[in-house]
Amino acid sequence: MSGNLSKDEVKWLEDIYEKVKKKVSAESDRIGEAIPYIAINGKYPEDHGTREIEWWTNGFWAGLLWQMYHATGDEKYKVQARITEERLDRTFDEFEGLYHDVGFMWMHSAVADYRLTGDKKSFSRGHHAANLLAGRFNILGNYIRAWNGDMAGWMIIDCLMNLSILYWASEETKDPRFAAIAKRHADTALEKIFRKDGSSNHITIMNPENGDVLDTPAGQGCKKGSSWSRGQSWALYGFIISYAHTKEERYLDAAKQAAHYFIANLALNDYLPLCDFRAPKEPVLYDSTAGACAACGLLEIAKHVPEEEKPLYERSALKILMAMDKAFCNWNVEEDGILYYGRTDYNSPAKDEEISIIYGDYFFTEAVLRLLNKDFFIW
Ligand code: GLY
Repeated sequence: MSGNLSKDEVKWLEDIYEKVKKKVSAESDRIGEAIPYIAINGKYPEDHGTREIEWWTNGFWAGLLWQMYHATGDEKYKVQARITEERLDRTFDEFEGLYHDVGFMWMHSAVADYRLTGDKKSFSRGHHAANLLAGRFNILGNYIRAWNGDMAGWMIIDCLMNLSILYWASEETKDPRFAAIAKRHADTALEKIFRKDGSSNHITIMNPENGDVLDTPAGQGCKKGSSWSRGQSWALYGFIISYAHTKEERYLDAAKQAAHYFIANLALNDYLPLCDFRAPKEPVLYDSTAGACAACGLLEIAKHVPEEEKPLYERSALKILMAMDKAFCNWNVEEDGILYYGRTDYNSPAKDEEISIIYGDYFFTEAVLRLLNKDFFIW
């Protein structure tokens, strides 16, 4: 963070780093070889790798461990992250279960490993995943298709976050095909999912023969035309990632627009992220994962704007993290999960206060480390 922090903010940041270190260290000792997903009332009920090894979130725990390895140098995190990375190998054989989220799965495991250690096998895993993602590109509509089954025309805002592995593959192999696909997808997202007011649809369904827009259903949001907050944070962070790799101004402009929309909505609600910004007043449903992802994106935007623009993004990220620490975080080292009030989707029957989701904890940790200049850019 470049700007000046008040004494209280400095103290908060020092304390939160100590809390993150203690919590993740205790969790890592408890979790062992398992892959965590959702903690309910302070406990991960199962090894999600055994339940469903192709699940899209299975790389985040490794990502969190690599961030902690980078920040602290503690070898135990490296050893443990590699266990997840090796377990994911099986999914390459079970190809049918994989979809657009191969970026999330292998950026955080294999590519993070390769970037930090230069491991050759990890490079191959990342390269393999990039090829799988590139293979999902629809050349008739210029988009990477989401999910599997009868959804050939589906494109979702979340997929912007998976483009990192394509940019990485081009940077590493000097083969421009991967980045070209990423840019074409990002441009279609700008045109067909992202809205003019800085908000975003979750899903756009197109005619897979020509890319004509057929529908924009609610997806994980409240209803059609609403504003699912995690989707907004995927847009915010996703576009700035495309800018970071391409330096194409339209992606920076879109990320800033998404950021301004996100900040304005959070300012209305004491900087706590509702699950959908256009939901009815009752029930009040939060999604902490959206706030954590957006905070990372805001801090990333701050790196790419002139000095006088930085405070808007940095201070908003800080406000979100401080508000969520107070309202949502569980720092009891005997219990699993950091960031509670996560929500998988608006219409889920779960009571959101009860669960923490692994990607929420990942983004919260990434944001705290970024404030301290201790993160590494996994994207
Ligand atoms: N990418 C799926 C989700 O955000 O829930």
